[in-house]
Amino acid sequence: MLHTNLCDLLRIRYPILQGALGPHDTSGLAAAVSRAGGLGVLSTGESDDAYRETRRQISKLKELGVPFGVNLPVKGSSSAAMIQAVLDEVNEGSHAREWLRVVITSAGSPARYADVLAEAKLLHFHVVASVQHAMKAASAGCSGLIAEGYESGGHVSSESGPTTAVLVPAVVDQVKVPVVAAGGFADGRGLVAALALGAAGIQMGTRFYMTCEAEFAHRNIQAQLTKAEISDTVVVPGTYGENRHWRNEYTNEILGLVARQVPALALRELKHRGRMAKQSGDAQGASVPIGMSIGLIKTVLPAEDVIRKTVYEAQEIIRGLSATTNQG
Ligand SMILES: Cc1cc2nc3c(=O)[nH]c(=O)nc-3n(C[C@H](O)[C@H](O)[C@H](O)COP(=O)(O)O)c2cc1C
Repeated sequence: MLHTNLCDLLRIRYPILQGALGPHDTSGLAAAVSRAGGLGVLSTGESDDAYRETRRQISKLKELGVPFGVNLPVKGSSSAAMIQAVLDEVNEGSHAREWLRVVITSAGSPARYADVLAEAKLLHFHVVASVQHAMKAASAGCSGLIAEGYESGGHVSSESGPTTAVLVPAVVDQVKVPVVAAGGFADGRGLVAALALGAAGIQMGTRFYMTCEAEFAHRNIQAQLTKAEISDTVVVPGTYGENRHWRNEYTNEILGLVARQVPALALRELKHRGRMAKQSGDAQGASVPIGMSIGLIKTVLPAEDVIRKTVYEAQEIIRGLSATTNQG
């Protein structure tokens, strides 16, 4: 009932993608999502080791024999190393080609890698936050788009970019390739809404950050996040531009520094402290990118339960809607 053209294109059971959660290693989470019928996506951060790290994660998923996608932020200094790692994996006659279903570029122009990915016969999706960028990505040859609204966690387009409910139908009207909706989805209601807007599926980031397999998310911070409301996020400067975070003492401090126009070094030092605090589970001092949908998420669940629950709820809603319509 929930089968869409996205399922055929990516050869997955349900039209649900786990969004990249860089700079974290999402290989464990991705495997759990894919085993449950969605598509898990690998992520990495900027590092001198990006080539080896990307190959390591791809090898892990390929050995497990589960489908996966790979995300790479184009603007990042590691993107060339990451793309080389992908190409070497698929060209070495390994099983990688069988299990790697899509390369998802974000944060930058998809045109930079469109030709090389097409030559390698790999599906290429790009994350867009505006209609203009969606049209450019489709012309660059992308096989699919992820339309990400302003409520989403992590990097957001620019101050007050379009929200998902208006971005998705506007993009769908302009392109012929499948569009995955992202930003604000946490359950089956979101999935049905996205399909109604014309999307071929959803991508969730915040919901999967709040799962047992997200080992990179400190348990104490996850526990605090279960109490967050939809208004508890704020946009602060991030690696590639504006970034939506959970509002806490860290974001208050960062916004204070920005308002006082302090030197970039002070900002860098604070961001470093924020990353350290995230690792130690200091919820107020931590830098925690998260979307507005955090206010809808009250429990940390296994990734399989998130997929199962989302699909079940969506099917029930669709059944209920068609029963209501038939009565009328
Ligand atoms: C902690 C965190 C890290 C993220 N890192 C990336 C990333 O490295 N690359 C990317 O394309 N998107 C990244 N995103 C965006 C997600 O992949 C996803 O599109 C977004 O979270 C969807 O909105 P939602 O948070 O409302 O579900 C990140 C999101 C979060 C919360």
